[in-house]
Amino acid sequence: MPPIVEVDRLTIAFPDPARGWRRVVDGVTLNVEEGEAMGVVGESGCGKTLTALALVRLVPEPGRIVRGMVRIGGQDVLAAGERDLCSLRGGFVGFIFQEPTQALNPVRSVASQVSEAARLHGGASRPDEDALAIRLLAEVGLEDPERVARSYPHQLSGGQRQRVLLASALAADPKVVVADEPTSALDTVSQQRMVELLQELRQRRRLTLLFVSHDLDLVGRLVERVTVLYAGETVEVATRDALFAEPHHPYTRALVQARLAAGGFGERFPTVPGAVPRAGAWGHGCRFAPRCPYAFDRCLEARPALTALGDGSMVRCFLVSETEDADA
Ligand SMILES: Nc1ncnc2c1ncn2[C@@H]1O[C@H](COP(=O)(O)OP(=O)(O)O)[C@@H](O)[C@H]1O
Ligand SMILES: [Mg+2]
Repeated sequence: MPPIVEVDRLTIAFPDPARGWRRVVDGVTLNVEEGEAMGVVGESGCGKTLTALALVRLVPEPGRIVRGMVRIGGQDVLAAGERDLCSLRGGFVGFIFQEPTQALNPVRSVASQVSEAARLHGGASRPDEDALAIRLLAEVGLEDPERVARSYPHQLSGGQRQRVLLASALAADPKVVVADEPTSALDTVSQQRMVELLQELRQRRRLTLLFVSHDLDLVGRLVERVTVLYAGETVEVATRDALFAEPHHPYTRALVQARLAAGGFGERFPTVPGAVPRAGAWGHGCRFAPRCPYAFDRCLEARPALTALGDGSMVRCFLVSETEDADA
């Protein structure tokens, strides 16, 4: 069976007065098998959120998907008509975002917001909606779901609101759930609970889960495989265990080391010296070369290709494979 989510060489650009179109995502490849939990990690600005939005063609205006392939459940998303897109968005694919990106409507009750997706996609009838909302609120572990259903968002805590968003993402019985930094606004305890909840839901509902986060440690608790993004491109794909035990790309290695350092001493060390380059302002060579302790001449001149290693993992680095990216 083909992967349920397939993204290949995705390129997203925004108009830039000085440069015409600026490519802020350029070279993202992402494949997720049905029922799998995949992590998408990378520092802020690497293109995680835009990639997630591109899955259902919701890249914000005036951004454009200018190249690449996106398929969900075998369907070509970039060629899909409005009707197919509607059934993908919130139907086949449920989304939860970090608050307040996807804020709840302050003047509508929780029940009506939770059942909205069911109304749009499943045609639930009015009397069924409250029952459905209460059932979903209970499923995401909220105590006293009847009371929560009658509440308005301001009456709930951050952790409760995030669970409400999760309940509404589940309302239309999605096959795929995309969680983009779903715990970033939460304290450590609520974070841990949210991860446990996602794990539970995933098993019970046989979901395919895409867990997007800058926090490799958090991602590692939930997923089987990880796709690492750096500067708008995929630099490594591997199983969680292989990635932690033997990261191939120097950027992944730095992320793994930072995680160990943070775990060991209870503080966060900087990931790697230097910063992610401004999106689109990349040189011709490897985008990580300016920060890479192993970079040699060729890394500054040519862009390595994302290369399959044969065991299902992929890496974009001249230390591992000499192949150049033909699209560069
Ligand atoms: N609405 C926008 N307009 C212009 N540029 C954008 C917009 N959204 C994102 N970008 C650019 O794309 C880059 C990647 O964004 P994003 O996908 O949100 O990164 P991440 O989620 O990994 O932090 C950003 O650093 C920014 O330069
Ligand atoms: Mg983001």
